[in-house]
Amino acid sequence: MDGRELIALAKEARKNAYIPYSGFSVGAALLAKSGRVYTGCNIESATFSPTICAERTAFAKAISEGEREFEAIAIVGGSDRDDEICYPCGVCRQVMSEFCSGDFKLYFADGEEVKEYSFDEMMPYRFYL
Ligand code: THU
Repeated sequence: MDGRELIALAKEARKNAYIPYSGFSVGAALLAKSGRVYTGCNIESATFSPTICAERTAFAKAISEGEREFEAIAIVGGSDRDDEICYPCGVCRQVMSEFCSGDFKLYFADGEEVKEYSFDEMMPYRFYL
């Protein structure tokens, strides 16, 4: 499963986003080391704070299925287009930090191009217990 294939799955997942408040839809596709892919979309709430991002939806699905080790994630999102870079929020980065090592890969669609970052690049100096 390469970055382009993961991005295609994230774009599919984005179609299910529940976004009556922001109109900003996000899709994610998370590749576990087992080879399975878990997708997610953002799900908003009238009281706002229960809103869950696409990335954390994907992680919740994977973790609850017993996965603990991850290879890569693709994230797509925006107000309308699905080829603009949508970086993960700080809360999602902290959740990734719980389960992902520095070489975990993040893929973003930048027009026709695939941009790839390591988790170390995305979240340097992270908090550990
Ligand atoms: N959102 C995500 O799904 N992932 C992110 O990393 C950033 C933000 C969602 C949350 C909310 O539904 C909408 O985008 C606007 O913040």
